[in-house]
Amino acid sequence: MSTDRPGPTGALHFPPGFRWGTSTSAYQVEGAVDADGRGESIWDRFCRSPGAVEHGDTGDVACDHYRRAEEDADLMARLHTNAHRFSIAWPRIMPEGRGNVEQRGLAHYDRFIDCLLERGIEPLVTLYHWDLPQTLQESGGWRNRDTAEHFARYAAVCRDAFGDRVRDWVTVNEPWIVGVLGHQLGLHAPGEKDVRASVTVMHHLLLAHGLAAGELRSGARGDTRTGIAYSLFPHTPDNAGDPADREAARHSDGYVNRWFLDPVHGRGYPDDMRRHWEKAAGALDFVRDGDLDTIAAGSDFIGVNYYTRRIVRADQGDGPWPWRVAEGRPGVPRTDLGWEIVPHDLRDLLLRLHTDYPGVPLLVTENGAIYGNEPAADGAVHDRRRIEFLHGHLKAVHEALALGAPVEGYYHWSLMDNFEWAMGYWPRFGLVHVDRATQRRTVKDSGHWYARAAADGAIPGVLTTGEPDR
Ligand code: FCB
Repeated sequence: MSTDRPGPTGALHFPPGFRWGTSTSAYQVEGAVDADGRGESIWDRFCRSPGAVEHGDTGDVACDHYRRAEEDADLMARLHTNAHRFSIAWPRIMPEGRGNVEQRGLAHYDRFIDCLLERGIEPLVTLYHWDLPQTLQESGGWRNRDTAEHFARYAAVCRDAFGDRVRDWVTVNEPWIVGVLGHQLGLHAPGEKDVRASVTVMHHLLLAHGLAAGELRSGARGDTRTGIAYSLFPHTPDNAGDPADREAARHSDGYVNRWFLDPVHGRGYPDDMRRHWEKAAGALDFVRDGDLDTIAAGSDFIGVNYYTRRIVRADQGDGPWPWRVAEGRPGVPRTDLGWEIVPHDLRDLLLRLHTDYPGVPLLVTENGAIYGNEPAADGAVHDRRRIEFLHGHLKAVHEALALGAPVEGYYHWSLMDNFEWAMGYWPRFGLVHVDRATQRRTVKDSGHWYARAAADGAIPGVLTTGEPDR
């Protein structure tokens, strides 16, 4: 793929066909948790445990997107995007995770996919974005290997229903986050705190990916593609001059990134991390003969969810890991959540993936920032910092493309402000502001900026100064 050099106006053009997308997930936007026979998910349950989610927020209403799906597709058309990543709620399709299929759930996504296609927006469908049917949790959830088999059957149902119109599927979103936040630290559903559970669950998620990929690719259309969206964190040693910190950064990279990328791309689990896990969690005897072949059988693209970097130093503290996440650097800009903004790390990450897993197409499946801007007196939302964030990261993608990385698209997280898991509703990630009381949608300045970029297939080489945030 080649990119144009900056034109006379300094614009940076992206290749024709580049996907200018937005990203959402079912539980974070849909609401309507009791509609059309939907079953309970682990997030419905988790939100009800006292103290689990800030302010006691839940996804019961979220952005009411289930009922406003068509209106929201119109919103995307106004943003001139040509791609949208969303997830299907497993409990809407199979309320108990297995067995009975709910036709009304299928009909909903069937209509939504058509709505997107009618507007020239290509769907990228995620099958698992964390809303496991609660019934499956009761038989062990992802700790139980059978869940991977149930997932493959759910994938086959989705293939039969939507596989004629959907080419690209993300099977699983962020297996590291599910393992660590959901099962090791107890910060996400199902709220477990068990190191052994976390590594078991991660393996079963990869197995689920492999089994589901096999199902999805056996559909009628010949060009189906599958992949995982990984939470990828580039690593920086706290003190690059200290060999111990460099080693810590390498191991932490194994923990967060390579533990998933390597087996999926046929290299098996990396030895350095295997040793760490065995020390922390005991024998990895849940990995059965043939599993690694299943896991390696089907990945046609790498989904990159990139938000920030991890600075790591060597530390033999009390936890199971001989490293610790260090403070960010003074002077580096941050989002309203304090995450460092480091666009060039996205470029380097894309280049690294291109080097380590050559030939595999890359999709930036998530990238975004929390900025709390509310509508100003003029009714608009002046989120200049999000424009700068977008510009910086799209420029980084453009640089990676120019250096040969096969990046096919960018899906901004998120289309609209939504339910941000354990933090509830206060973090605002959207290109579109959502008024929680009225559900009114307002395209932010950043949304207008992104719409322009998507329509032009280009961004300005240099961002001209604009109004500061108000
Ligand atoms: C990712 C999740 C996504 C969203 C963003 C901010 O880890 O995949 O659902 O919460 O973070």
